[in-house]
Formats: sequence, structure tokens, C-alpha cells
Amino acid sequence: MIVVLLGPPGAGKGTQAKTLAAELGVPHLSTGDMLRAAVKARTPLGLQAEDHMKAGRLVPDGLVLDMIKERLQAPDARNGCLFDGFPRTKVQAEALDRVAPTDRVVYFEIPSDVLLLRLTQRRSCPKCGRIYNLATDPPKVAGKCDIEGSELLQRPDDREEAVSTRLAVYRKETEPLLEYYRSRHLLRSIPADGPIPTVAAALRKALA
Ligand code: AP5
Repeated sequence: MIVVLLGPPGAGKGTQAKTLAAELGVPHLSTGDMLRAAVKARTPLGLQAEDHMKAGRLVPDGLVLDMIKERLQAPDARNGCLFDGFPRTKVQAEALDRVAPTDRVVYFEIPSDVLLLRLTQRRSCPKCGRIYNLATDPPKVAGKCDIEGSELLQRPDDREEAVSTRLAVYRKETEPLLEYYRSRHLLRSIPADGPIPTVAAALRKALA
């Protein structure tokens, strides 16, 4: 089963994907997380991706596609996967269609004024990846992960300058995928501006 979560930066895809992937019994493949891990490890891919990511631009399709094709060879992806943040361009969507047919695409529909607050107030745990929001989903102890106790970090691309580039890039490169998947009858839309449990319930309904 190949499921794609589609939506603008900050729509809540990552927040929902972790528990959903565990329930579906497939790996959660976040290209953003994979690229951030490559940047942290200073791999050749990470070194090529870093400047694009910091500025809020997309990483070139060829690099992302090589990374995904390799990841799909791993045994845990044999029964499918949950994509979060991929595909993001028509070139990526067409490439995915050639390697593995997509079963369902869920679009996180959200007004753009909500996104800025979600992104600039986001913090995450460098150890377990748990995502927080200082305004809507804060940790129990200020600045510390509830699970690991580690210091929460802000992503470099969640600063305001990069956020506006990311939103513009999303509209130009990724939004056209809505029509791409709608015309293939794979698209389901869910309202993503409600509380986390409400979005979780809508997501499961869209996949039922
Ligand atoms: P990526 O990591 O994929 O970032 P993104 O798509 O911009 O998505 P985000 O992680 O910002 O948002 P999200 O929807 O997951 O929201 P979240 O759940 O965290 O990509 C980063 C970069 O990597 C790209 O800019 C690009 O450079 C590169 N890249 C990645 N994939 C690529 C690809 N395929 N091709 C080329 N380049 C690629 O939630 C956001 C906040 O809101 C959190 O604080 C959370 O706590 C809060 N929140 C979530 N849900 C709710 C809710 N229901 N109510 C209130 N608050 C909520």
C-alpha cells in the first residue's frame, strides 16, 4: 500500500504520519527527515541538499529520486509506505508512478494564515523527532521534550524568511499535483485546521 500525504508546509503531515504509519504497519518516509539526516551526517547528498533546504527551496528532483529509489529497496518497504513530503513536483510524481503505483493521496486542506504560526512556533526533539508547537501543542516543561528530556530545536527553515519561500515554492511546484491526482481519482481532501485528534479521525476516514 502506497499512501501519500500532500499539503503545504506546516499543514500537520508529519504530526499525523508517525502514528498512522505504525497503525498501517508500513514505514513513514518523510523526505524532509531523510534529507535532514543526510545534512547532519555530512553525506554527499546532505552537502548538496543543505543550501537549498536552508533557503526554503526544493532539493533537485534527481537527488530526491535517487534517495527514494534506494529507500524503497529496503525490506521494510516491501508492503508499501506512507510518504510525507514526497512527491513534491510533477517529475517526482511521474517517477513514483513508474516504480510503485499510488493507492491513495490525502490532501491536508488548510487556510494559509494558520501556516505561519504553525511553522514559526514549531520545535522538535533531535532524539525522537516528536513535533511540538509552542502555541498549540507545547511540551510539559518549557523547551524540553516530554519523552527524551532533550533540548527542543527550531528548524533553520522555520525562520520567517525561509517560510515565505517555502510557501511560494509549494504553490508553484506542489499544488499542481492536486489536479494530477484528482484526475487519477486518487485524491481525498481533509480539513487540517482542527485539533490534532480531529484531523487524525478525518485522515483515517479518508483512508477507510
Ligand atoms: P519537509 O520536512 O517535508 O517540510 P514541509 O513539507 O515544508 O513540511 P513541514 O515538515 O514543514 O510540515 P508538516 O505538514 O509536516 O507539519 P508538522 O506536522 O510538522 O521539507 C523540508 C525541506 O526539505 C523542503 O523545503 C525541501 O528543501 C526539502 N525537501 C523535502 N522533501 C523534498 C522533496 N520531495 N523534493 C525536494 N525537496 C524536498 O506541523 C507543523 C506545526 O503545526 C508543528 O508545530 C505541530 O505541532 C503543529 N500542528 C500540527 N497539527 C496541528 C493541529 N491539528 N493543530 C494545531 N497545531 C498543529
